[in-house]
Amino acid sequence: MVNIAVLTSGGGTNLEAILNAEERGDIKSGKVQIVIADRAGCYSLVRAENHKKKNLLLNRKELGRKEFEKRLVETLICEKIDLIVLAGFLSILSEDFTEFYRDRIINIHPSLIPSFSGEGYYGLKVHEAALKRGVKVTGATVHLVNEIPDGGKILFQKAVEVKDGDTPEALQKRVMEEAEWIILPMAVEYMADKIDKERV
Ligand code: GAR
Repeated sequence: MVNIAVLTSGGGTNLEAILNAEERGDIKSGKVQIVIADRAGCYSLVRAENHKKKNLLLNRKELGRKEFEKRLVETLICEKIDLIVLAGFLSILSEDFTEFYRDRIINIHPSLIPSFSGEGYYGLKVHEAALKRGVKVTGATVHLVNEIPDGGKILFQKAVEVKDGDTPEALQKRVMEEAEWIILPMAVEYMADKIDKERV
């Protein structure tokens, strides 16, 4: 069994999709061991609590980037974490961190990378940019995390249609429902199975 940590910064609907998939038995090679939030007031911690998952707030603003990462690594080692899932996690991790956990961190991004990705593209901003450019198709991507924001190897992508009259909020909802909540649990099981097999 692969030990998984989910890192979040907000509402946690992607976390919810992972926890539901685990409960349905769709994630069978790994187990969510801990949910960590990087800022106060994240509803993701309530979701973790509802699913009886260990959860922790590491307030990045209060701790500062260095101390935040130090405590994060201490926690991940203590929990024997093999796979880190960034599910709506909005802090940028240092190169030291991404190197230490090379090929062990995945992220969900709400566009078809390389469109609307990289520094400054997160949350609703991604959908605002897609609508401004007038694309007819957008989607979501799960990728490995390296030192380049949204620059790691692409694992899964799913396209979603942009409709006339879409607002950023309407498009965000459709991308979540039709792409993110499907490909993120799939990618978690894919990676957990891969890591599990590499160990034997
Ligand atoms: C999701 O749309 C996720 O793809 C995005 O933030 C939202 C978080 O929602 N992540 C990024 O933009 C990362 N660059 P959630 O907290 O409900 O899962």
